Amino acid sequence: MPKQEARTWPEDTCVTNPSPSLIERLQAAASAAREHAHAPYSKFKVGAAVLDDQGRVFAGCNMENAAYPLGTCAEAVALGAMVVAGGKTCTHVLVIGGEGDLSPCGGCRQRIAELCSPDCVVYALAADGTALKEWKMADLLPHAFELHR
Ligand code: THU
Repeated sequence: MPKQEARTWPEDTCVTNPSPSLIERLQAAASAAREHAHAPYSKFKVGAAVLDDQGRVFAGCNMENAAYPLGTCAEAVALGAMVVAGGKTCTHVLVIGGEGDLSPCGGCRQRIAELCSPDCVVYALAADGTALKEWKMADLLPHAFELHR
């Protein structure tokens, strides 16, 4: 991937000051995963990457199915890869979609909330690397469901 200039996040959505090298690392993993997206129905390819609390990056892509409700989002696949490797918590999530706007679906917000640090940040990029939005996870899904056992 060609080296890119540091991204400027739209001011109204900027909540942190992400280091360009962190974004680049997550973006590289997410875009490589996106290339493998199985999205023959929506034709909307998505890649996601999560950084776990040990500094490891895990990526995923969306994986659709002819039985539509069985389709899986890129974020779910990336989180699954983290869990398989023994990861417990992610601190950053980056999602890369197509040309237009993108934000994680409600189900994935709940999935991320289950497995993220309280200060977790989520970044959305367009396929060409344009920075779209940046959210604190707590803003993206306030009052996430938790099972109190
Ligand atoms: N999708 C994701 O994988 N992640 C998102 O954040 C938004 C939507 C997928 C689901 C479906 O395969 C396709 O994008 C179109 O909705």
